[in-house]
Amino acid sequence: MYIYMKSRASMHLHQLVKLKMSSSSSLAPSPKRLDGKVAIITGGASGIGESTVRLFVQHGAKVIIADVQDELSLSLCKELDPDEESVCYTRCDVKVESDVKNVVDLALSKYGKLDIMYNNAGIPGNLEPTILSAGAENFKQVFDVNVYGAFLGAKHAARAMIPAKKGVILFTSSVASASCGESPHAYTMSKHAVVGLMKSLCVELGQHGIRVNCISPCAMATPLLRNVMGMERDAVEELICAAAVLKGAVPRAEDVAEAAVYLASEESKFVNGLNLLVDGGYSTTNQSFSMVLRNLMSSNQVL
Ligand SMILES: NC(=O)c1ccc[n+]([C@@H]2O[C@H](COP(=O)([O-])OP(=O)(O)OC[C@H]3O[C@@H](n4cnc5c(N)ncnc54)[C@H](O)[C@@H]3O)[C@@H](O)[C@H]2O)c1
Repeated sequence: MYIYMKSRASMHLHQLVKLKMSSSSSLAPSPKRLDGKVAIITGGASGIGESTVRLFVQHGAKVIIADVQDELSLSLCKELDPDEESVCYTRCDVKVESDVKNVVDLALSKYGKLDIMYNNAGIPGNLEPTILSAGAENFKQVFDVNVYGAFLGAKHAARAMIPAKKGVILFTSSVASASCGESPHAYTMSKHAVVGLMKSLCVELGQHGIRVNCISPCAMATPLLRNVMGMERDAVEELICAAAVLKGAVPRAEDVAEAAVYLASEESKFVNGLNLLVDGGYSTTNQSFSMVLRNLMSSNQVL
């Protein structure tokens, strides 16, 4: 009896281990989470776009960089794949419809499909802090690139994806879409508009099996922000970390790239209509009151 029970128990254990092994192997993340996927990344020459190009290629995607910085884009392609099999560049000004149409057509003619369209290109515009100092020309430029450019990217991607009944469209918005008052009005408005575009599209395109999501990063020391602040990377990161809610990590473009891989991969197959904030919780709070209080208390101590 004892032997019978023991052998039953060891059989059970054996089955359990087998089951655990098979379930854990089916859950093990594939090292190449975008294997065989074809992606276009606008603004892929620099900053967040560049980091995403690197990570997408690492995960097995074929990537087309759509940007206006020829030299930078070409040197990135050369560094990642001199044969241009997994990554190539085509000049594309996102606010020019024929350019956007061409880059999507290139994906179809070169690779036969388009799986991922990442509308990431964006500009900060002028630092016009008040409504009275805001000019129409700057407003138009910011909206042309950040909103109309993103709209064109989505429109032409949808043209390729609807017949395939699948695909992923991503946008880069900003923490300014969730927490206001720290960026110029035109930029803040443009990033809200991107979230609106994403939400509106996720309903229409969801019917065709296409997922549409958005990533909203906090301040990161990319060339965009370094130019705006006129400071070196280390100094910008020091400021960002001092203001951060989440301590112990420096937010970098690579963090956005990781979010983009998740949203582009099968791991997020039922995630649609999400504005994923990569901001360490920055937008959940407003620390103005405590800052004023702290300043008051320290000035009282001095008195
Ligand atoms: N860096 C930040 O702090 C931050 C924070 C939140 C959101 N964002 C957003 O992230 C996105 C990427 O910005 P980044 O920080 O990597 O900046 P970046 O300047 O390093 O990169 C932006 C890229 O977009 C390209 N681009 C600009 N206008 C274009 C156009 N008309 N057509 C095609 N390409 C164009 C540029 O050439 C550049 O390569 C932007 O949409 C930006 O608004 C940045």
